[in-house]
Amino acid sequence: MVKIGILGVGTVGASVANILEDNADIIEARAGKKILVKSGVVKNLSKDRAVSIKLSDDPMDVINDPEIDIVVELMGGVEEPYALVKKALENGKAVVTANKALLAYHRYELQEIAGDIPLMYEASTAGGIPIIGALRNGLSANHIDSIQGIMNGTCNYMLTKMINEGAQYDAILKEAQELGYAEADPTFDVGGFDASHKLLILASIAYGIDAKPEDILIEGIENITQTDVAFAKEFGYEIKLLGIAKKVDEGIELRVHATMIPESSMIAKVDGVMNAVTVVGDRVGETMYYGPGAGGDATASAVIADIIDIVRGNQGPMLGYKKGLESGLKLLSKDEIETQYYLRLEVTDESGVLAKITSSLGEFGISIESMLQKPTEDDRIAKLLFTTHLCKERKMQNAITALGKLDVVQGKIAMMRIEK
Ligand code: HSE
Repeated sequence: MVKIGILGVGTVGASVANILEDNADIIEARAGKKILVKSGVVKNLSKDRAVSIKLSDDPMDVINDPEIDIVVELMGGVEEPYALVKKALENGKAVVTANKALLAYHRYELQEIAGDIPLMYEASTAGGIPIIGALRNGLSANHIDSIQGIMNGTCNYMLTKMINEGAQYDAILKEAQELGYAEADPTFDVGGFDASHKLLILASIAYGIDAKPEDILIEGIENITQTDVAFAKEFGYEIKLLGIAKKVDEGIELRVHATMIPESSMIAKVDGVMNAVTVVGDRVGETMYYGPGAGGDATASAVIADIIDIVRGNQGPMLGYKKGLESGLKLLSKDEIETQYYLRLEVTDESGVLAKITSSLGEFGISIESMLQKPTEDDRIAKLLFTTHLCKERKMQNAITALGKLDVVQGKIAMMRIEK
């Protein structure tokens, strides 16, 4: 018999306890032992919980319980769970966590502390999709050329509604919150931070890159308008918030941002709250993983898979490598990223304006791929929409600053990156 203690018995914790009970027969068949939840820890004992396990409000009741073999951390946050997970590992207990923020900041310290004690985290990234297992095990013979993923269900839900139904940003965010998709603070979702935590975890397994969210380019979906949506449709693109890890000659690009992608690509067809991750390996080619990125049972499915793996004795290093991985590759700075761009500007609608804009872009060596002019309600102002050929981020940012200073340009210039 293996005994579990759960730190944080909210929606996912309750699902873990219930699935372990409801599916006990197949879980025992697969793990080779009975698995029992001995106790759980919650902040507020007076709140009603949909579980029948013993509850306490002191995490040490789990962490110091000699009968508990595996601690499941589902609390959220960073420093408090870090201290508790550390203590659990020091007490010799295996740990399963679904906490992406904890891992985005402390995965390397935790790997060090864990040593040979299992610390698993399948549920931290893309919820029920077994993407950590795919990268750690299934694709381990490959150099990873790229990872591209829809890793935040809230953003994907909002973008799908904005594109397919013309929904307005604020109304659709409120709906996503009411449906329970969004984080407690939805800026984590719409600002791209939640996706960045997941991308950093995947990048560690693929490339051994030790980066924190502050080190990479993170942008959200807050500035997307119906003008951008209409342009994307006209030019055959979908708009998705993507987490991207890419191996290029000079190193590894890591970035999260709203992205125009060809509407014919597989990932463009992933709608609503669903997540999907595409991984390209040098030997396997392109692979894709699709499924629910959040939700009690879906996330618990991944948590329990980790528990079963630990009980079976399938371990291996936490981040999937035992010594320096891809050690020649460094994280590229934000400035060095190279991609195609979409630009939206409002300009004075008079002769010579287009020439001024295009010559300014030309001065920065930025080559235009396509262009569209749209009237606005104000007949003195026109919207100019461009896509560019490949160019470095630094050049683009400098060009945007220069364009913004032209007297014919009105208001803020919007930019989105394009991946083909
Ligand atoms: N808020 C997250 C999302 C939940 O929308 O995908 C899972 O991390």
